[in-house]
Amino acid sequence: MLTKEYHAKISGTGMYVPDKILTNYDLEKMVDTSDEWIKSRTGMSERRIASKEQAASDLSYEAAVKAIEAARIKTKEIDMIIVATISPDHPFPSTACILQKKLGLKGFPAFDIAAGCTGWIYAANIAKQYIENGIVSNVLVIGVEILTKLVNWSDRSTCVLFGDGAGATIISRADEKDISRFIDSEISADGTHYDLLIQNAGGSRIPASKESVEGNLHTIYMEGNKIFKHAVKSMYQACEVVLKRNHLDVHSIDWLITHQANMRIINALGKKLNIDEKKVIVNIEKYANTSAATIPIALDEAVRSKKIRHGDLVLMASFGAGLTSGSLLLRM
Ligand code: ACO
Repeated sequence: MLTKEYHAKISGTGMYVPDKILTNYDLEKMVDTSDEWIKSRTGMSERRIASKEQAASDLSYEAAVKAIEAARIKTKEIDMIIVATISPDHPFPSTACILQKKLGLKGFPAFDIAAGCTGWIYAANIAKQYIENGIVSNVLVIGVEILTKLVNWSDRSTCVLFGDGAGATIISRADEKDISRFIDSEISADGTHYDLLIQNAGGSRIPASKESVEGNLHTIYMEGNKIFKHAVKSMYQACEVVLKRNHLDVHSIDWLITHQANMRIINALGKKLNIDEKKVIVNIEKYANTSAATIPIALDEAVRSKKIRHGDLVLMASFGAGLTSGSLLLRM
């Protein structure tokens, strides 16, 4: 293993979800579905919906302010911003640059990461490298998504699954004596399956046209049941790698936070890892799948409710469009 010059830690968390709640019963009135189907097949009961005026940077800003306060740093101490999202304000410039302006900052790197639901883990992994190399001290890492503006509201197989929200984390250099620190992280991708979850139009392959809009090519296309099979396997592998590399048994893990895409996937991973289900953090019933935001939102809720405490060993795992996957092992 490489010797690290410095250590990274999570010094503050924050989250923001829009006020509007859309329940499974509301969805029953919109498409041919039922509360029973959604709940039993996914574990979801309701999700938050951004307003017409809200874009990814707006949600990010609200979450960021809370994380900065929790980290007890001044906004101007941030020296890098990474935003994980596949529903940015605009295809370009990056949402990170827009957020930098909203925070009244400039003069340091700000960029987006598009790794689907694994986005926040990818972004945290990158922040970890920059901190460990001693290049930066406080990275604002956001997972944000407004996928309800990208779903096809007449496709019942996808429109019931997603919700909007933002989770923010400040990843800072840890003091030498600090027990809080990132221990390890693994990220990966299998591009052979890139077309299982895709927004087909709006890029250089299929630019926007009358036909692309009429053919619903700007909305989310997903072969959910094929992804399902990869999800458990890839998250399990990502967890196994970091546990083995650090000679840790799963029983030493205090909390497991996985991507919140489907309760059946979360349960299957927990079972495969053989972790006590009381240690698995779940909030899918309230927010559904907020993609890159699920893990930082779940982390913030668990920290603020004092479920996760200083010194706890936390394992995180995710998978998503790409197909990407990754894990993060840290002591809070
Ligand atoms: N209401 C009622 N019936 C439905 C609905 C709905 N909302 N959606 C699908 N169905 C029907 C289907 O039409 C099908 O009917 P049929 O048997 O008559 O053909 C039946 O339910 C079963 O459909 P499946 O797709 O096989 O259902 P499955 O049990 O696989 O659940 C789901 C679907 C929830 C999408 C699941 O496959 C899943 O969670 N997959 C993973 C999704 C995911 O995690 N994506 C990656 C992250 S997202 C990101 O990166 C942005």
